[in-house]
Amino acid sequence: MTAQPPSAQRPPESAPPPDAPRYLTGFGNHLASEAVPGALPPRQNGPREVPFGLYAEQINGTGFTVHRAHNLRTWLYRLRPQVSAQPFVAIDGPPRFVGRFGPDVGVASPEPQRYRPAPLPGEGVDLLAGVQTFAGAGDPAVKRGVAFHLFAATADMTRVFCNIDGDLLIAPHQGTLQVQTELGWLHVAPTELALIPRGLRFRVLLPDGRAQGFMAELFDGHFQLPERGPVGANGLADERHFKAPVAWYEDRATPTDVVVKQGGRFWQTTLSHSPFDVVAWHGRYVPFKYDLRDFNSFGSVSWDHPDPSLLTVLTSPMDTHGRNAVDVAAFVGRWDVTEDTFRPPFFHRNAAVEFNMVLQSPTQGGAYPTGAFSFTPYLTPHGVSARGYEAAVHNPAAVENRPVRGSDRSVWLQFESTYALAVMPWFFDARDSDFLAGFSGFSVGALGQGPARDPHDAP
Ligand code: FE2
Repeated sequence: MTAQPPSAQRPPESAPPPDAPRYLTGFGNHLASEAVPGALPPRQNGPREVPFGLYAEQINGTGFTVHRAHNLRTWLYRLRPQVSAQPFVAIDGPPRFVGRFGPDVGVASPEPQRYRPAPLPGEGVDLLAGVQTFAGAGDPAVKRGVAFHLFAATADMTRVFCNIDGDLLIAPHQGTLQVQTELGWLHVAPTELALIPRGLRFRVLLPDGRAQGFMAELFDGHFQLPERGPVGANGLADERHFKAPVAWYEDRATPTDVVVKQGGRFWQTTLSHSPFDVVAWHGRYVPFKYDLRDFNSFGSVSWDHPDPSLLTVLTSPMDTHGRNAVDVAAFVGRWDVTEDTFRPPFFHRNAAVEFNMVLQSPTQGGAYPTGAFSFTPYLTPHGVSARGYEAAVHNPAAVENRPVRGSDRSVWLQFESTYALAVMPWFFDARDSDFLAGFSGFSVGALGQGPARDPHDAP
């Protein structure tokens, strides 16, 4: 005979989300949480009889035998098993949520692109329905590739989503997301990121009635903190600023639709109950949130503009050192103190694509208001506009070598990938047609005037 949770500790059938959820901290930590004291088996993972008659279940995000430091798994203790008595039925997913990429999918143009903020949809669009893929490469079936998406939603999710294909990084720029996961709640506001490991079931509520933002989907590996190298033991993103949920459960015996994305296709089954019935859990395979304003930026304190890898928040390394499926970089308020330096990013061609997103802008005018974004394809030349170049060269602060403080109200996010992503036509065809005009009118270097010169010509 197993003990049952005291009735006073049983939640009502449909408990509202907590106003201010509590969190556990520490990226990569082995965490443990129980909504009811005594629900977590104190020693074994799979005792013959689990406390309170709960069901034990393991979810693992890595192979059983990977290096211990990389092993990710979590044990869940729940009211009911998650095996469904109903079949999975193939359904039409959101028409612009693309799951597999190949030579015939998207536009692999080498043109640098800038985009205005995307519009909000009409009423009744939940976050899953509101996903539109921006660009992608690879195939989740062979665990290679990445996709960048936008989302725009005006309704709570009543269904539950489970992405088998990849880990999701979700970054809103408008509206708070109340993310209900099997392990508990994450409330994610603009300037914050949510990390949802693949296979974990979740839904998103919109306390503000609407939300918009960006997503990265990683088909292989998991997001991890970058090595600090010569930076040392401190700085950049700190483990303790990453927050994981605490256990929270509901006993809701109403049919619940679960949509699963697997191999780029969408499937649906109906559970007889809420999947958010985990009373206790422990492990390292957990969702997190992180506020980009907690990022400890580094930069040059002498001369020259450093590469943006110095501002990496999270990464996902591939097989070759330095090649990453996704690097996530943050551009937040910080000082520029460089001397005798062209202070904006220098002209460059990058052996990676760059997807830049404005999560928060000090102004709503100009070319980069909140929600705007840009994409630079692989090895395509890019840099500041002709006007921006002249302004930077003659900027009085730069001429006088005065320190300049970037605004704390400016928060940009960058996804950089070694994959040569192709852009979906519904975005590419809507790119900002004014963007390229800014790159005309550069003055010519002084030696460029007059006829061509050859070094062997007599002076
Ligand atoms: Fe760049």
